[in-house]
Amino acid sequence: MATVHSLAATVHQRVSDALSAALPEAASADPLLRRSDRADFQANGMLALAKKLKGNPRELAAKVTEALPAQDENAVIANIEVSGPGFLNITVADEAIMKNLVARRQDERLGVPYKDDPGTTVIDYSQPNVAKEMHVGHLRSTVIGDAVVHLLEHRGEKVVRRHHIGDWGTNFGMLIQYLIEHPHELDHESDAAGAKDAGEAAMARLNRLYKSSRALFDSDEDFKSRARDRVPALQSGDPETLALWHKIVDESKTYFQGVYDELDVEIRDPDIVGESAYNDDLQQVVKDLEESGVAVRSEGALCVFFEDVKGPDGTPTPLIVQKSNGGFGYAATDLAAIRNRIGELKADTLLYVVDARQSLHFRMVFETAQRAGWLPEGAARQLPFGTVLGKDGKPFKTREGETVRLVDLLDEAVDRAAAVVREKAATGDGEVTEEEIQRRAKQVGIGAVKYADLSNSMMRDYVFDLDRMVSLQGDTSVYLQYAYARVRSIFRKAGELKPVPHPELELAPAERALALHLDAFADTLVAAADEYEPHKVTAYLYELATLYSRFFENCPVLKADTKEQTENRLFLCDLTAEVLHQGLALLGIRTPERL
Ligand code: ARG
Repeated sequence: MATVHSLAATVHQRVSDALSAALPEAASADPLLRRSDRADFQANGMLALAKKLKGNPRELAAKVTEALPAQDENAVIANIEVSGPGFLNITVADEAIMKNLVARRQDERLGVPYKDDPGTTVIDYSQPNVAKEMHVGHLRSTVIGDAVVHLLEHRGEKVVRRHHIGDWGTNFGMLIQYLIEHPHELDHESDAAGAKDAGEAAMARLNRLYKSSRALFDSDEDFKSRARDRVPALQSGDPETLALWHKIVDESKTYFQGVYDELDVEIRDPDIVGESAYNDDLQQVVKDLEESGVAVRSEGALCVFFEDVKGPDGTPTPLIVQKSNGGFGYAATDLAAIRNRIGELKADTLLYVVDARQSLHFRMVFETAQRAGWLPEGAARQLPFGTVLGKDGKPFKTREGETVRLVDLLDEAVDRAAAVVREKAATGDGEVTEEEIQRRAKQVGIGAVKYADLSNSMMRDYVFDLDRMVSLQGDTSVYLQYAYARVRSIFRKAGELKPVPHPELELAPAERALALHLDAFADTLVAAADEYEPHKVTAYLYELATLYSRFFENCPVLKADTKEQTENRLFLCDLTAEVLHQGLALLGIRTPERL
């Protein structure tokens, strides 16, 4: 299916053409077109242009108007006039709006274009740590990463997902040594039914293992040294050690999948490629960096220095690739991963959905990889995100000062959502079973958590406020899901009446506003995908739901004056539902048929 050009794009083109025809010296000037309340679109570009050309903006605007072909092709522009200090107010023809929407509805992608030049993007997101609980920081990386993956894939980009889990390091020496000495520690009777319960049980066992081994480590010097000796055994691939390491990683994966299941995101096992996967490449990384002089030995450690990275006392803060005891940290694995992603996976773009507090680390890692010639300039980019705060405005903690378990948060969100759903069901038609309430509550509660995360611009810290998140009013997913459910309910009542567009009908103001916004869906998705900004989609959908409610209040659908009008309005309803559905799906949010 061919791309459907939005009316905004078409009008922009017409005005640009008229501008070049009227003022050849201003051929490349941007007319600065935007949606407006006064007309459909307003172009403000004449003001800046007049300043540059030392002319009168109203006169310039008038010239542009004259240069527009009187009978424009497809009759898109119905009226154009100069207003105020030299704005152009442009009204498009009702018929053109509806015809554009018809073309969108005929395309299953609603006219969203594929990229002209798709490449390969490797995206590093959702990277929890083995043997540890997932917390709100992991929520953000998972939810944002999942949305970016969907947006990019929708544009035709080849996306390789990488979950760089923390599955390596000295901690494992302690856990494995304890398991060797207490072989039954992770044993359990039978597997719990369901991903969530199985995951919770696995995490409970890991917590127990962690606590007991920690206690021994802190109290018994001999155990401590046996635990330390276990680390090189792991790194060199000793079979017994490796087998137990696998056991711990597998328990963790069972736990992660339980959380992912609850969170309703698909994380595939082959994409979980943790720090350990690069273990065999680390020596080569060190060798190459040292030989090329990109890294130097400093007090025994292998370091990379930067002009502009200094500590508070003015001494340079290096990126440490290898510690003086020979151990590797986070930097080495990230460097090895870059070589793999560019060299083997043939990525054009590398994305990292990681907390903003790690920005310095990534800046240094990217710069190092560039100096070493492993990474083309500009190919890697962190998509940093802000911190999740509690109601007190401080990083989210439990009352005891511990990090909040992600599963507990999700459970609570679903509980709150259940209350909302139950109340709605009580006022609706017919009995709703408890099972059905729980099913909807999950879609509403999880959607609310994801939406709150995505609707804030990524860099902003935000307050985790469940009451607000599950509210039916305001910028929430529940409000959008409710708009969707309302459309579906109209169709249940519509009987024989079907959505049929009638482009020849005149549109009421609320219909025009809705229709013009529907037409902007594709442009919004392109911008959101190309700029990695899912919150552009949430903002668009919120506006859509608001315009839909206004339409719904002002324009009777099933009781319209004529059958044609009803059909035309049903067409607008149907397209609204489809846009809500597709838009929310890209964000990982479900659209239940009823609320
Ligand atoms: N595992 C780390 C954490 O929980 C995040 C890893 C980020 N990704 C990376 N490639 N370094 O904080």
